[in-house]
Amino acid sequence: MASPIIQLKNVTKEFKVLNRHEGLAGSIKDLFSQDYKIIRAVDNVSMDIMPGEIVGYLGPNGAGKSTTIKMMTGILKPSEGTIMCNGVVPYDKRTQNAQNIGVVFGQRSQLWWALPAIESFNILRDIYQIEEKKYKDMMNLYGSIVDMDALMHKPVRQMSLGQRTLCDILASFLHDPAVVFLDEPTIGLDVAMKSKIRELIKMLNKERNTTIILTTHDMGDVDALCQRIVIIDKGKMLFDDGIDKLTETFGAYRTLSLSLLSKKEKADEARMNELVQKVTDVLGSNISDKNAFTVSSRDDQIEILLDEKKTNVMKVLNYIQDESRIYDMHLNEISTESVIKKIYEGGLS
Ligand SMILES: Nc1ncnc2c1ncn2[C@@H]1O[C@H](COP(=O)(O)OP(=O)(O)O)[C@@H](O)[C@H]1O
Ligand SMILES: [Mg+2]
Repeated sequence: MASPIIQLKNVTKEFKVLNRHEGLAGSIKDLFSQDYKIIRAVDNVSMDIMPGEIVGYLGPNGAGKSTTIKMMTGILKPSEGTIMCNGVVPYDKRTQNAQNIGVVFGQRSQLWWALPAIESFNILRDIYQIEEKKYKDMMNLYGSIVDMDALMHKPVRQMSLGQRTLCDILASFLHDPAVVFLDEPTIGLDVAMKSKIRELIKMLNKERNTTIILTTHDMGDVDALCQRIVIIDKGKMLFDDGIDKLTETFGAYRTLSLSLLSKKEKADEARMNELVQKVTDVLGSNISDKNAFTVSSRDDQIEILLDEKKTNVMKVLNYIQDESRIYDMHLNEISTESVIKKIYEGGLS
């Protein structure tokens, strides 16, 4: 049995922040204030990550994801608990740890702004003292995945966000680290670029067996890349298991998608909101358990997330049919996105 490459044991991180007061008088008061409060950004988190894993580290805004990553990379020191990363305590041995890891913080490039990417790569080669052969092998591997000529000779500042992210990811893998941390790598990218970035990450993980910790808001990233996910909210860990376990737990949930508009009708926001309300009312007056269904809209479709332990599809269709014509319908398994939304809402209790 292999041993974990990253190990967090009861890790907590607290920040001491000033209690802010409002208005000008408040701002002046703040200058002299001793009025602090403690924010527990990460609360008693433990996990073992095995070599070669891609772990999705998920949670809503402010959950504590970036703070955890900063501790794993050695930028921050835990208030309590311990971290080991590839045999090193990251915040005690930052330089040594830097040799073992790569980091990308989405939308904040680590590359030198004014330089063509290739020169940044050369500098990184010197910093990490990458051997000539290793460097060449890595560049060849990159060349087999992306069009390096198009990327390498442009100053980073002239690049699109997508190109810059590509370069940042390539740069983070350049010294062939054991672990790479990707904090929101696909944020702000269009669909095509997202899928390119996912392909790249998948390839690099496969080719180099690099362990990858990925934080993201995009469930597309999770579905494409992660077998395992860890979910935190308000600093506390809510879930740590295979993604298949997640959907298993919610096996009784299915999504019913309905077209309630004819082709001629326009599915603008007001109309869709009206339909969501109407369907919610219809189901509400027929089904007593309000947790049995959630109604929302996506494009021109009404989506109903059903808990089949509490109600059934045929009944739901009948109730709606009495009030509205159904032009088309689809029934799908619950999506990862809906599952995670449920967990945030406390549905896993
Ligand atoms: N340097 C800091 N000083 C004070 N509070 C911070 C600091 N960094 C993060 N926080 C707070 O800790 C919590 C978790 O933040 P963060 O780890 O950035 O969340 P996430 O990356 O999941 O969105 C938030 O409430 C945030 O405001
Ligand atoms: Mg963050």
